[in-house]
This record gives sequence, C-alpha cells and structure tokens, in this order.
Amino acid sequence: MRLQVIDHPLVAHKLTALRRKETPSPVFRQLVEELMTLLAYEATRDIDVEPLEIETPVAKTTGTALSNPLPIVVPILRAGLGMLSGMERIMPTAEVGFLGMKRDEETFEAVTYANRLPDDLSNRQCFVLDPMLATGHTLIASIDYLLERGAKDVTAICLLGAPEGIKALEDHVGDRADVTVVLAAVDERLNEKGYIVPGLGDAGDRLYGVV
Ligand code: URA
Repeated sequence: MRLQVIDHPLVAHKLTALRRKETPSPVFRQLVEELMTLLAYEATRDIDVEPLEIETPVAKTTGTALSNPLPIVVPILRAGLGMLSGMERIMPTAEVGFLGMKRDEETFEAVTYANRLPDDLSNRQCFVLDPMLATGHTLIASIDYLLERGAKDVTAICLLGAPEGIKALEDHVGDRADVTVVLAAVDERLNEKGYIVPGLGDAGDRLYGVV
C-alpha cells in the first residue's frame, strides 16, 4: 500500500477551519469541496492517459486524454458524498458509482446497505472517497469489493486518518502497489467511541446534520 499525506499550506489551512467546532454546515461543506480539489489533484497523478491528435488554431499537435475505460469515483455514503463535487470539479468526465456503508456502532464493523456499481471493474482505476479513516473497516471492505471485481487500482482519498486505521489497512493490503491512500493529515488516535482525536467530529453529521 502506498500512503501519501499531502503536505501543503492550503490543505493545512482549510483543514484547521474544518476542525473548528463552531464552523457551520454550509461552510463545512464548502471547505470539504475545496480541500477535495487539492487532494484530488495529487491523487490523480498516476491517472491513465492516451495520446490524442488535435489541431490548435495555429497547427496540428499531440495532446492527451483520459484513457478508456474512464476512471470511476466511488463516494462512500453518506459522508463521502460531500467530497464528490470537489472530485467532479477536476475530473468531470469520470463515472460515479456509489457504495453505502455504515459502521455498526458497537462492533465498528462495516455494513453495506447500498451498492450502485458495475459488477465488472476490469481495467478501471477507482477512487474511493471517505473523509474519515478511523478503524479502517469501511475502507478495507470497499477496497476489497473493488479489487474483487477486477479494479486495476484503487486510490482512497480521506481527509483525516487515525494511526490505528492506517495500520489495519496496511496489515490487510500488505505491499501491493495497486492500493494508495491519500490523506490531508494523520491524527493522534481513536477514542473509545471510535472517533478520531482531535479529528473534526462526525463528518456526516457536520455535512448533512444529525438525521
Ligand atoms: N467517522 C467520523 O465521522 N468521525 C470520526 O472521528 C470517525 C469516524
């Protein structure tokens, strides 16, 4: 597994605003979108492209276009949905699939409750969006799901990671090079309720309210 923690002053600045408990939902959503565009820029460095002949107003030249099959972006419902617009902004032609996963609040295990993804993901580059890498259970389940269906590679983009979750993921994935995790920051630890400390609270609630 490759782990990439994005060290950039704008990422740190926006993350700080996101963490503040007084940041209201509309601002929180906006910040998640902005942060995502920065993370997505880094996370798509190895995206497959193919050469393309084009004409400028002046001359013929060669450029590149995203390869087919197009990459697929997979927000994990519900909180991952808040990251989708930032991703779409910089890669609008990617396709979007959905996985609904929640954690059992007692065992912290991931439970899948919705799935709108192709069965065959052969040769697809997949980008999983999930803001909080806490225990790692949800990401492990979603990465396994995508790889089992033939994904070429999987890049998970998260805002915050806990050392416990990163270790669980590393232990599970091992040294395979087709799984990458991109994070804005690694925090201190998980608390007894499975929240990241200092973290930013419940990302889904802060994006969409307590429903
Ligand atoms: N999920 C969240 O939304 N926040 C955490 O701190 C951990 C998991």
